[in-house]
Formats: sequence, structure tokens, C-alpha cells
Amino acid sequence: MPVVSRPEDFHEDELFVDAEPIVGRPIHLKVEGANLAGSIKLKAAASMIDAAQAEGRLPAGTTLVESSSGNLGVALATIAAHRGLSFLCVTDDRCNPVTLRLMRALGAQVHVVTRPDPEQGYLGARLRVVRELAGRPGHLWLNQYANEANWGAHYRRTAPAVLRNFPHLDVLFVGAGTTGTLMGCARYVRETTGGRTRVVGVDSVGSVTFGTPAGPRHVPGLGAGVPPAMFDPDLVDDFVLVPEIRGIQVCRELAAGGYLFGGSTGTVLAGALDWLATHDPARKLSAVTIAPDLGERYLDSVYDDDWVRQHFGLDALNVPPPTAEEEPDAQLPRSA
Ligand SMILES: Cc1ncc(COP(=O)(O)O)c(C=O)c1O
Repeated sequence: MPVVSRPEDFHEDELFVDAEPIVGRPIHLKVEGANLAGSIKLKAAASMIDAAQAEGRLPAGTTLVESSSGNLGVALATIAAHRGLSFLCVTDDRCNPVTLRLMRALGAQVHVVTRPDPEQGYLGARLRVVRELAGRPGHLWLNQYANEANWGAHYRRTAPAVLRNFPHLDVLFVGAGTTGTLMGCARYVRETTGGRTRVVGVDSVGSVTFGTPAGPRHVPGLGAGVPPAMFDPDLVDDFVLVPEIRGIQVCRELAAGGYLFGGSTGTVLAGALDWLATHDPARKLSAVTIAPDLGERYLDSVYDDDWVRQHFGLDALNVPPPTAEEEPDAQLPRSA
């Protein structure tokens, strides 16, 4: 019987879904939403707050400030509430309404940026606000985009849990937001398997992380309008870009099979299926994809037909969505 005295002390790290009956090839999803903040970000939040406290950067009365597309905000709000810290989250208007309400329910202040920076998108606009706030006395910016404790959480926990359960794994697919999950997993997997297990990054079309052009994105979690400071392309064996509508369709296929996952899970699985179709036509490789959160936060977006038609066109749900290979913007050379 798990009994916790801190919300971050429970994180189910050993739960995998066998997706083969749904997608028709051997692939497992590592479920990261089974914890008290509902996403993979609980591990990163705990790791960054613990590091700041250990380094004496969080004296009593400090207000934490962070830019988040939502899930890190909920995780930081959870831990901050439990430790009696103040927390101010800077997000943007793509953040799910329920995620905003969760943060507020946990006592966080939330600042919603409504206009993207003309060159650096919403992330650039959010970071400008955060930098201004972080300069004020008594405020600390954890900076998840550059904080080693972010990727360290996945180096210490996420990737070891994958290899513990799949010691002969051929390919691990990881979505890229801050790239904390990707960098932590890639470092651990490379050190542990010497390159035998490949790590493939998955991102949304419109993100600049892998050196491809910026474009509009509507699903929170993956992608960045500003290259994440901690990203090192040399640690990743390959990458795939996925049009958001294709990720949404894969989410709906999973839901039709009884698994309601968040938007980035559909995108990472779509990227994995595209990559495997090209690199493993004989279906021999074993594969794991990281599933960062569950689907309830996306009922008004990914799983809402009107929202999908509004953002992706009236035919978005009627015609087969493009694969990454067919999407012109996605056919760009590797930046690594
Ligand atoms: C739903 C979801 N998927 C994926 C990610 C990306 O994770 P990372 O920031 O570690 O790259 C995030 C990050 O916030 C997320 O909330």
C-alpha cells in the first residue's frame, strides 16, 4: 500500500500499455500520467525544486516563477502548495482551460500571455514576461529550458525504468518540449547500451528545436518557438516531425481502443509509426514511446470535433491526415 507524505512521492514508473492490438506493430507506451499531478512533469518539478532548495536558492518567502505550457505549472503548483511556497506561472492562451483552473485551485497565480512574439512565438513572449518577473527581489526562475535538474530527473528515473522493463529495447521514441525528457533519456540510454538502443526525438511540425521553420501549433506539450537551451542534437540518433492533425488522429485511435491519452502521446506514437514504417518494414524492432500525460485535460481540444475543425479545417476529421513524409515542411534535412 503506497502511503505518501509528499505529493511527489508517488509516481508510477512501471506502467506500460501494449499498443500492438491498436496500431498493428509491437510498440509499448510508457504511461507517465499516473501520479498526483497527472503528468511526467511531476518528476522534473520535484527535481528542480529539490536542487534549488539544496543549493539554498529558495529561502522562505521566495516566489517561484516559471514559463509552462501547463503541465509543469500544475506540477510546480502541487509541490509549491505542499511546501508552503508561492508560485507564479506564465503560460499562454493555448493552455487547456482545465489546466489553468487546476493551477489556480492549487493556489498558484497564473499569467496568461495572449499575443505571440512575432519571431519567437508564444514561448518568446512568455519568456520575456518571466525574465522581467524573475528580476524582482524574492523571485526565483527555475528555467526548465536550461535547468540540469530537469533532464536529470529523466536520466535518474524515466530511462532506467524503460530499460529495466525492456532490457533489449531497439528504439525509444521521446517527444521534445523543453527536451528535458529527451536529453535525460538519451544520455542514460547511450551510456547504458552504448548505442544499441536508438533514441529518436519526436516533435510537432512548426517547432524550431530540430532546425526546421517555425509555424503555428495548437496542441500544448511538444515543440518550441525558441531553441531549448539544454538541447544537444548529437545525443539523439534521429528525429521525426509530425503534423499536429496526425497526432490528433492517433490520439483518437487510442481512445477508440480504450486509452485516453494527451495530445503529445498521439504525436509521439504517430512519429514512431512513421519512423518504423520507413526503418523497420519487417516489423522486427521493439519500440517504446513515452506517453507524457492522460487525455482528460484535452477533452475541449484534441477530443472536441468543433475545436479540431476550427483549427485544422472543416475536412480535418474526414480525410486521412498527411503523414510526416507528405507534409512539405516536414521533409527537411536532419539538423543533427
Ligand atoms: C503533455 C506534454 N508532453 C510532452 C512534454 C515535453 O516534455 P519535455 O519538456 O521534457 O521535453 C510536455 C512538457 O511540458 C508535456 O506537458
